[in-house]
Amino acid sequence: MNNFWENLKKPVFALAPLSGITDSAFRRVCKGLGADVVYSELASSTAFAYQAESTLNIVRFHESERPYVVQLFGHNPDHFAIAARIVTKQIKPDGIDINFGCPMAKVFRKGAGAALMTNPPLAREVIQAVIENTDLPVSIKTRTDVKGFDLLSLLEHVEDLDLKALMIHGRTYAQRFSGPNDIETTREARTRFKGIVLANGGAANCALGLELLEKTGADGVGIARGALGNPWIFRQLNGGLNGRPERGDVLRTALEHARLSIELKGRRGIIEMRKHLCWYLQQIPGAKILKQRAVKIESLADVAELVACAAGENHVREPSSCFAAEGL
Ligand SMILES: Cc1cc2nc3c(=O)[nH]c(=O)nc-3n(C[C@H](O)[C@H](O)[C@H](O)COP(=O)(O)O)c2cc1C
Repeated sequence: MNNFWENLKKPVFALAPLSGITDSAFRRVCKGLGADVVYSELASSTAFAYQAESTLNIVRFHESERPYVVQLFGHNPDHFAIAARIVTKQIKPDGIDINFGCPMAKVFRKGAGAALMTNPPLAREVIQAVIENTDLPVSIKTRTDVKGFDLLSLLEHVEDLDLKALMIHGRTYAQRFSGPNDIETTREARTRFKGIVLANGGAANCALGLELLEKTGADGVGIARGALGNPWIFRQLNGGLNGRPERGDVLRTALEHARLSIELKGRRGIIEMRKHLCWYLQQIPGAKILKQRAVKIESLADVAELVACAAGENHVREPSSCFAAEGL
C-alpha cells in the first residue's frame, strides 16, 4: 500500500470536504496555492451501488490535485464495499475517507454521517468493508460527540483497524457548524490514534489555523470555510504569504477558477461560480456593487468583465461606471 499520509510534510494543511464546494475546480485552485491534500465532497456509497456512472462524475479529479482523497458516506457496509472497489479501480485517488460527521437530517435519519458514531458496531463494519475492498489508505472524519457517543470511545472500538488518518471536526453533533472547538478531545485523540490526526473546525483564517494546530498538538489542520474566497490561506499557513493576497492575484485566480468550473460543469459551473465570486470579492474593499453583478453572471465573458472592472479602483468611487452599458 502506498500510504501517502506518511510521506506528507508536517504540519499537514488539508482542504476539508465541503459538499457543493470542493469540486475539482476549487480543489485545483487550493492545491495550486499550497494545500497538502484535498478531499472530495461527500459521495454516497449507496449511489455507487445503484448508479455508479453518475456518481463517478462527482469524484473525478485531475492529476494535479494529488494527493486526493475521496470521501464516502452511507450506512450499509455492502454499499461501502462496492463503492470502495469502484473508486479504487476507476478513480484511482490516493485515499478513501469515510464520513462520520455529517449532521444533515436527510443523511442522519438514514443512519449515515454523524449517526454512524452512535452505532460503534456498524461503524466498525463500515470501516472494515472499506479497508477490505481497497489497497488505498483509509481515513475517517468525525465529530467529538454525537448524542453522548464520544469520539474517544469510538476510537477504542476500532483501535485494531488499519486506519491511516483521522480528521476531527472538534464540535459535537448538537453544535452543527458553530461554537467552541473541543481542543481537549483532539489532544487526547492525538495521543491514542496511531495515524495522522488533523484538527478541524473554526480555522477561519491563518492565525486561527495555527492556533488550532498548536493547541491540539495535531499533525495538521483541515481547512473548510476558511478557504472560501481565500484559497491563499494555504500559502499563508505554509509561511509563503504574509498578509492578504494582492488584488491582481485575487482577480486572476477568480477568473481561472471560473474558467475551470465552466469547462468542467458547463451551465452548472456558471451558477456555482456565482457564490465563489462573491467570496473572492470579499477580499476587495468596496466591492458591494460587484457582488450584485457576480450573482448574475451568465458566462465566462461576464466574469472577465467583472474582473476587469474590479481591477480598477473606480468601482469603489463610481460603482455604476463599469456597467453603465447594462444600466446597472
Ligand atoms: C456547506 C458545508 C458543506 C460541508 N460538506 C461536508 C462534506 O461533504 N463532508 C464532510 O465531512 N464535512 C463537510 N462539511 C464540514 C466541514 O468539512 C468542516 O468539518 C466544518 O465546516 C468545520 O470546519 P470549518 O470551521 O473550517 O469550516 C461541510 C460544511 C459546510 C459548511
